[in-house]
Amino acid sequence: MRIEIIGAGYVGVVTAATLSSWGHRVTLLDINSERIEQLSRGSVHFYEPDLEPILQQQLAEGALDCRLFPHGLIDQAQIAMICVGTPGNMKGHTDLSQLEAALQGIATRSAPEVIAIKSTVPVGTGRKIMGDLARRNCDSMVVANPEFLREGSALYDSFHPDRVVIGVDQPKAAAMMQELYNRLQAPLVITCPEEAELIKYASNAFLATKISFINELSRFCSNWDIDINVIARGIGLDHRVGTHFLQAGSGFGGSCLPKDLKSLIGQAATLGEGAVLLRAVQQVNESQRGWIVQQVEQILGNLAGKTLAAWGLSFKAGTDDLRDSPAIDLISLLIDKGAQVTAYDPKVAGSSGLPAGLVMADNPETAVVSADLLVLLTEWPELINMDWQQVGKLMSGSVVLDTRNCLDPEIIIKAGLIYRGIGRAMQQGIPITYQQVKKGLG
Ligand code: UDX
Ligand code: UDX
Repeated sequence: MRIEIIGAGYVGVVTAATLSSWGHRVTLLDINSERIEQLSRGSVHFYEPDLEPILQQQLAEGALDCRLFPHGLIDQAQIAMICVGTPGNMKGHTDLSQLEAALQGIATRSAPEVIAIKSTVPVGTGRKIMGDLARRNCDSMVVANPEFLREGSALYDSFHPDRVVIGVDQPKAAAMMQELYNRLQAPLVITCPEEAELIKYASNAFLATKISFINELSRFCSNWDIDINVIARGIGLDHRVGTHFLQAGSGFGGSCLPKDLKSLIGQAATLGEGAVLLRAVQQVNESQRGWIVQQVEQILGNLAGKTLAAWGLSFKAGTDDLRDSPAIDLISLLIDKGAQVTAYDPKVAGSSGLPAGLVMADNPETAVVSADLLVLLTEWPELINMDWQQVGKLMSGSVVLDTRNCLDPEIIIKAGLIYRGIGRAMQQGIPITYQQVKKGLG
């Protein structure tokens, strides 16, 4: 099929690479000319594992090309997919200006058979767009086609989705979307546009709820000096609960979960609904950062003048995305309390978007020199697998605060350091984890 994709961000680039590798002829468009230039050379402006090789292959085979929006739009494309940003604005509403600009260009220059909206948009947006297009005498059919890609594993998720959601009210459009995704085994969930739009928000809000649930319990575990990871395993093995998204830590960040949760709460408010549970999920998440700073103060006392090392800045491992990163929030809070923070992240370099006063190190070892405490903020494998004996020698203090509960406490303790996690048992100073219990069982 002949496809045009508008918006060469995390979603647009991954979608273009995937669809073109399935044999569709794809044109990827963006208003940012440098971005288009860079993509045309096979280089991606953000870090996403394995994305560049597949992009380069599709460009070389002529299955994919990158053009400037709106000039490069295709006349009579079969499907135009919109993947532009839909950020929250100051009032907590969703800013649809990028979407409107994309539609303006498409309606006047391309008139595709189907317009598929992949960007996350408030419930009812698709139906509103149908009316707008009709008033412009544009007879493109509108479909809601939300994406569920996780940064850091976006390509895998694109090739192996758990489901494809299509919100549509015209059989011809449904048939075209079925053809688009005909390489997939995943179930096709055909809904009305509003249901598809809500499924996206509901999916992210539910994931956020699981995370705030386990984070709230991690605070109980901290008081009872028992291990939240053991609790997570004990409940997660119940197939009705599931083991995923029960990792306690510094809370959820990124460009989607916080934004989509906030948007859904705002949309509910327009219905006169209080969204009590969702507001509580948001509140637990926001307060988790402050609760962790309290843990640091309990260990070091007054933070003014203290030297702290921070490993990891991105909102999770596998990406260089700093959008709504808990690491950035935590570092800002620590600097506000007078600490001197030196940070290292394997994929985040430079200084844009970083807290004022933060010192960046070129490597993890430099970041920990003379540190009173090391706080691990992002679960990068290279940080988890460090030589902890050497880390202990470089630090002046001896506490490692693992805000992602990703380290093995025994390894840290064997290196002569003190391990602190988020709700990890510290009986007799040695965390009791289920691996040790299992070992004890022989
Ligand atoms: C975006 C939305 O943010 C997310 O809510 C949705 O689920 C999927 O699409 P992402 O890919 O991260 O996610 O967006 P972003 O990285 O912000 O990229 C958007 C791109 O659209 C940018 O490259 C921007 O230059 C481009 N754009 C914006 C256009 O091409 N035309 C416009 O009119 C506006
Ligand atoms: C999320 C959704 O997973 C994806 O389906 C949607 O399309 C976009 O938003 P993403 O934001 O890329 O994807 O990352 P995700 O893996 O969901 O993690 C989101 C945040 O939750 C990260 O800050 C992560 O550290 C945190 N998290 C995740 C936890 O704190 N605990 C967990 O168990 C899982």
